[in-house]
Amino acid sequence: MPLQIIVGAQWGDEGKGRIVDWFAADADIVARYNGGDNAGHSVTVGEQLFKLHLIPSGIIHPKPVAVLGNGMVINPESLLHEMDMLAELGVEISPRRLRVSHAAHLITPAHRALDAALEARRGKDSIGTTGRGIGPAYTDKAARTNLRVGEMLSPDFRDKLAAHIETANRTLVSLEAPHLELSPVLAKFSAYASRIAPFIADTSAETCAVLARGGSVLAEGAQGTLLDLDHGTYPFVTSSATTAGGVFTGLGIGITAARDATVTGVCKSFQTRVGSGPFPTEVFDDLALRLRGTGANPWDEYGTTTGRPRRVGWLDGVLLRYAVRVNGLTELVITKLDILSGLEQVKLCVAYRKNGTVYQDLPFGPTELEGFEPVYKEFPGWKEDVSGLRRWNDLPQAARTYLDAIGQLAGVPVRLVSVGPEREQIVER
Ligand code: GDP
Ligand code: IMO
Ligand code: MG
Repeated sequence: MPLQIIVGAQWGDEGKGRIVDWFAADADIVARYNGGDNAGHSVTVGEQLFKLHLIPSGIIHPKPVAVLGNGMVINPESLLHEMDMLAELGVEISPRRLRVSHAAHLITPAHRALDAALEARRGKDSIGTTGRGIGPAYTDKAARTNLRVGEMLSPDFRDKLAAHIETANRTLVSLEAPHLELSPVLAKFSAYASRIAPFIADTSAETCAVLARGGSVLAEGAQGTLLDLDHGTYPFVTSSATTAGGVFTGLGIGITAARDATVTGVCKSFQTRVGSGPFPTEVFDDLALRLRGTGANPWDEYGTTTGRPRRVGWLDGVLLRYAVRVNGLTELVITKLDILSGLEQVKLCVAYRKNGTVYQDLPFGPTELEGFEPVYKEFPGWKEDVSGLRRWNDLPQAARTYLDAIGQLAGVPVRLVSVGPEREQIVER
């Protein structure tokens, strides 16, 4: 497969990391094209749990080259921390395996401080960001004032960084937030620059070269469709193009690569969201606790990046169909089927209702959810523990009926189902 794009079909945390790991073994390149260390992608291999924030999940396999594309915003401190963590776990971290786009944008301590100060200023209307400086970094990018990774190598980087911190300090003071001391930031970034220098590359040229010779590129989305800056539940979104279109600008590859691309949407068997914003199928109380878990298991619904409890609810098929449309999904992967085992009944939102009218699709997409009520189809649950199953026909009939209904509603086939977090806990259709 020349190009495979893997995107989240919901509000993030669908299990993209572990699904990328499933497809990555033979890929030539696995590349992140958007976002930064707001992402948290968990991959479980035997006893080892890898928690990745910036480096693509494909790095765990020995073959693929991991690319951090130009569409990303990169905090060098987080990157170095993650490189060290992976090296300690026995993963080769070398310029042969890891390539960082010279044109990716930097996240500085000023962006983090601004993220916190802006959220505090929003008060009850806060977005519930991850606090990683994502919004302020993309804001500076759009304003054409931000620093890029390649600039770390230039002789005037120190002056530019100093000017950036001084500008941010003026904004921080106006927001009644503490300002940053300049010299520790300058000293740290000088150390980061020398460590990251060997990894900086023209990743667009390298990725295009792999595609041109018929090699395979796996694009790993961060966040999810409904957090996309243009197509998500604005303003409760992140600041990047999370959807499949973002792959082409975020990696610097031509759209002709889309001709024979597979676009895989990863979707949980229920719905979750972390942070503020509308969530029509959200559930509360005992059922919420049942879907979220108590936090005792590593896969329970608590954020990989921030540890916040995730909001949970029934799978929203209307929003899933929307994700199929805006990404051009060609197939679905359904994760966490094991979590539904033991429920008496499982619900799927198949339409919305407003003022007595039933809508198969939302008139203005997910931006305008006010007043729309989910219409549910109910399915009998199943008692069996599915976590040990590996064959489609071994899945309980009730589970297969539910999965078929998801595929039918979405209009694309369900190719894989995951039944536990471990690498091998996958059922292929
Ligand atoms: P991502 O951001 O889309 O990569 O997803 P996260 O890694 O943030 O969250 C998914 C969580 O669910 C992680 O803890 C995974 O290990 C876990 N997980 C993934 N698939 C399954 C599954 O099929 N069953 C269970 N129980 N856990 C899963
Ligand atoms: P992965 O890649 C789930 C959410 C935040 C907040 C909003 C904006 O692990 O699926 P930001 O810090 O990006 O400005 O926050 O987006 N968010 C995520 N939610 N999974 C993620 O990444 C997320 N990255 C950001 O909670 O609501
Ligand atoms: Mg995550």
